[in-house]
Amino acid sequence: MTTEVIRVDPDSPDPAAIARAAECLRAGGLVAFPTETVYGLGAHALDRDAVRRLFEAKQRPPADPLIVHVASFEDLAPLVTAVPDSARALAGRFWPGPLTLVLSRSRDVPDEVTAGLSTVAVRVPSHAVARALIAAAGVPVAAPSANLFSRPSATQASHVLDDLGGRIDIVVDGGRTTIGVESTVLDLTQDPPVVLRPGAVTLEMLHEILPRVELVTSKGDRGPEAPTLAPRAMPSPGLLEKHYSPRAPLTLYLGRADTALPALVRDGLAALADGKSVGVVAANEDRVALAALPQMDRRVVLRTVGSRESAEAVAATLYAALRELDAAGVDVILARGFADERGLGLAVQDRLRRAAAGRIVRC
Ligand code: TXA
Ligand code: MG
Repeated sequence: MTTEVIRVDPDSPDPAAIARAAECLRAGGLVAFPTETVYGLGAHALDRDAVRRLFEAKQRPPADPLIVHVASFEDLAPLVTAVPDSARALAGRFWPGPLTLVLSRSRDVPDEVTAGLSTVAVRVPSHAVARALIAAAGVPVAAPSANLFSRPSATQASHVLDDLGGRIDIVVDGGRTTIGVESTVLDLTQDPPVVLRPGAVTLEMLHEILPRVELVTSKGDRGPEAPTLAPRAMPSPGLLEKHYSPRAPLTLYLGRADTALPALVRDGLAALADGKSVGVVAANEDRVALAALPQMDRRVVLRTVGSRESAEAVAATLYAALRELDAAGVDVILARGFADERGLGLAVQDRLRRAAAGRIVRC
C-alpha cells in the first residue's frame, strides 16, 4: 500500500482535501491527521474491520483501548449510557481541547474500540484540521496516536511516515502539532474522578471545575476499593511502565542541577569510554554543565528541548528530540528531568519517566 500525503493549511484546510480524507475514513480506511496534541491515526469507530486494521497497522495489542474523537459535545451522547453533570461542566470549559473523558459506554461502541471495557474514552479535539475532518466524515473517529506501539508519539507528518508509511492510506499533513504531548485522560466513572494520564488540561485546571479529582497512583495501585479493570483490558497508559520510548535505552536523571548533571556527565563519559555513542536530552540552561562532555566528539549528540522555565516549550519538542536521537543512531540516551511538576510539567515528567522504563537515577 502506498500512503498518500495530503498537505493542508493547519488553520483553514482546503475543504476538497478534507472531503477526500473524510471519504476514505467513512469507507473504512486509515487516515492520520494532526490534532492540537499529537498526530492521531483515525478509523471509523463504528466499523469493526477498520478498527482491527488500525490495531494491526500500529502493532498495538488489542487489549489497549482507543480514544473516540467527535466533532462536538452533542456527538458524545450516542456513545455513552449517560452524560453526567461533571462531563457537561468539563466539556463546557475544556472542549474542544486536550481533555479525554472516560465514561460508561453505550452498546453502539464496538468491543474492538474499548478492548471489552464497559467504559469509553472520548474527546473533541480543537485543531482545525481534526475538527474539519471529523465533521466531514460524519462518524465518530477512533484515533490513537499515529506511531508504532510504544514509540514516541508523532508531532509532525514525517514522524507518522517514519513509523506507518506504507501501512496506512492517507496522512493529512498540517505541520507540527502545538502542544506536543497527548491529551489528559480523566476517568469520570470512578469516585473521586482519576487522572489516568496527565496532559495540557492540568490537574490545577481540573480542580477549578472538580475539586476532588485525583492523580492515578503508580502501577495500578489505586487502593483497596479501586474497581478492577475488565480482564481483557490492559491498564491505562497512566499505568503502563514502558511507553513513548525511543529505541535507544533512555536513563532519566532526577535531582538538583549540582548533583544530577555531574552524574549524567559521569555516566556519559563512561559510555563513551565503552565505545558507545551518547545522546543527551536537557534544558537550554544545562548546556554549560554539559560542556564537560566532549562536544567535538561526533559520538555525542546533545539535543536541548527549551528552557526549564517553560514546560510548554519542552512538551512541544520532546518527542521530536527523542526521534532525532534515534535517527542519529545513538546507543544510549541520557536525559535530565524537569523539577517543576506543576502544570504541564507533570505531563513532561510523566512521559520522560515512561520513556526511561524504570532506568531512573535519583541524585
Ligand atoms: O492526545 C491524544 O489523546 C491523542 C490524540 C490523537 O487525540 N491520542 C492518544 O491516543 O494519545 P492513544 O491511544 O495513544 O492513548 C490513549 C490512551 C490509551 O493508551 C488507553 O489506555 C487510554 O487512553 N484509554 C482509552 N480508552 C480507555 C478507557 N475506556 N479507560 C481507560 N483508559 C482508556
Ligand atoms: Mg499512544
